Amino acid sequence: MAAKRDDRIGSYELPDGMTALARDHLVQPWPTAGEIGAEARGGIVSGDGIYVIDSEGRRLIDGPAGMWCVNAGHRRKDLADVLYEQAMALSYNSPWYTMNEPSVSLSARLAGHAPGDLNHVFYTTGGSSAVETALRFMQFANNVKGRPEKKLIFSRQGGYHGSTYLSASLNGRPRDHDWMDSASDQVIKLTCPNPFRRPEGMGEAAFCDFLVEEFRGVIERTGAERIGAFVAEPVMASGGVIVPPDGYLKRMRQICRDNDILFIADEVVTAFGRLGHVFASKDVFGIEPDMITFAKGVTSGYFPLGGVMISSRLFEELRRSNHPDAMFAHGLTYSSHPIGCAVALKNLDILEEGLLEHVRSISAHFQASLKTLEDLPLVGEVRGLGLMGCVECVADRVHNNPLTLDLEVGKRIDRHCQELGLLVRPLIHMCVMSPPLTITAPQIDEMTAILRTSICRTMDELVREGLWRG
Ligand SMILES: Cc1ncc(COP(=O)(O)O)c(C=O)c1O
Repeated sequence: MAAKRDDRIGSYELPDGMTALARDHLVQPWPTAGEIGAEARGGIVSGDGIYVIDSEGRRLIDGPAGMWCVNAGHRRKDLADVLYEQAMALSYNSPWYTMNEPSVSLSARLAGHAPGDLNHVFYTTGGSSAVETALRFMQFANNVKGRPEKKLIFSRQGGYHGSTYLSASLNGRPRDHDWMDSASDQVIKLTCPNPFRRPEGMGEAAFCDFLVEEFRGVIERTGAERIGAFVAEPVMASGGVIVPPDGYLKRMRQICRDNDILFIADEVVTAFGRLGHVFASKDVFGIEPDMITFAKGVTSGYFPLGGVMISSRLFEELRRSNHPDAMFAHGLTYSSHPIGCAVALKNLDILEEGLLEHVRSISAHFQASLKTLEDLPLVGEVRGLGLMGCVECVADRVHNNPLTLDLEVGKRIDRHCQELGLLVRPLIHMCVMSPPLTITAPQIDEMTAILRTSICRTMDELVREGLWRG
């Protein structure tokens, strides 16, 4: 792997021999058994703004912003300076016995942005640990309240919530559970609220009624006294940017309230500017959850940090309970990490000082630009919200059949995009886009133009190989 130097960005590069070293020693996420322990992926050597440079020396638009996280963009000196300064002031303190100023200040500022009475923050190391924390807290609270049977968790087909045992048990995408164990006895999966895949002949409003009635029906049959929480991404991210039907989240929220079921909004992707607001639950969807999980964009990916916003009411109920000695035996060495929290404070400044506003004004152009791809015969739907977008390919537009898995159409499009200067996130037959929030209108147009050429090249390829009729 010979990395070329990019003088505009600096002299960072992956040294020769990295591919062999990776194959011998590195294990990356989601490997297959056939490649595990012997795999090397494409090298990325540096980043600047919305761009990254790969180990071939190619400059690529970072279409997925890393992994939905580099919200403020790459190579920001203001964020890097805070990392350095906080490390020199205080690099770590134990949250078991002490506290630090950045974590306290950040909690207060996040509480100011969070809806309703979500005034408290429990910090974690990322999104999975945030979801795990929220669920363990629900279990703890119900134990203390004397209702240990109220623990079942609702999630949805198509959702993604993490890779720790309980958070992963909520996942509902194809292949998530094929070879993995999970706490399936604790989880009930509801229908994916994907309007594009609603039953043929059913309107969107009727589909929303169906989803809500399904939820109500399962609660009735199972018994509300056995159900602890409903966990939902306001917009399903890794499931393919699925924006639920109008009113769906509000109605699901009301059913949770009526049945004393905690509504946990998983905003690991949708928070910190992706939809133009610090949190999207209230500002975009009009709901006040009982807990909100966050991670990723909270530090724009400059430091691993996540957390759960928790309702003051839940804490008050515990303080009033008959078990003042009951302990929430849950904590992470890196909870409230001073460097992560200091970076998050600076990141929040950046969002508040214009970046949120920028997202709100540029999103319409982003969505409209991507939408133009719907004229291509391989494209079944382009959808999205804010700076999240998804191009879903279909084998035929009459029945919207997804292209069969072995075609890996997303990967084919990604390969062409990379040749032309764009990284996309391929998801089976879909391509997901969630660029750094600093993206401009001309850069959006460039991204769409590359996607168009790449999809055209993919269509030609599929026809040539006899895999698709066109
Ligand atoms: C909605 C959502 N929740 C949770 C997670 C897990 O976060 P992490 O990978 O930081 O553990 C993700 C990761 O993509 C996510 O998209």
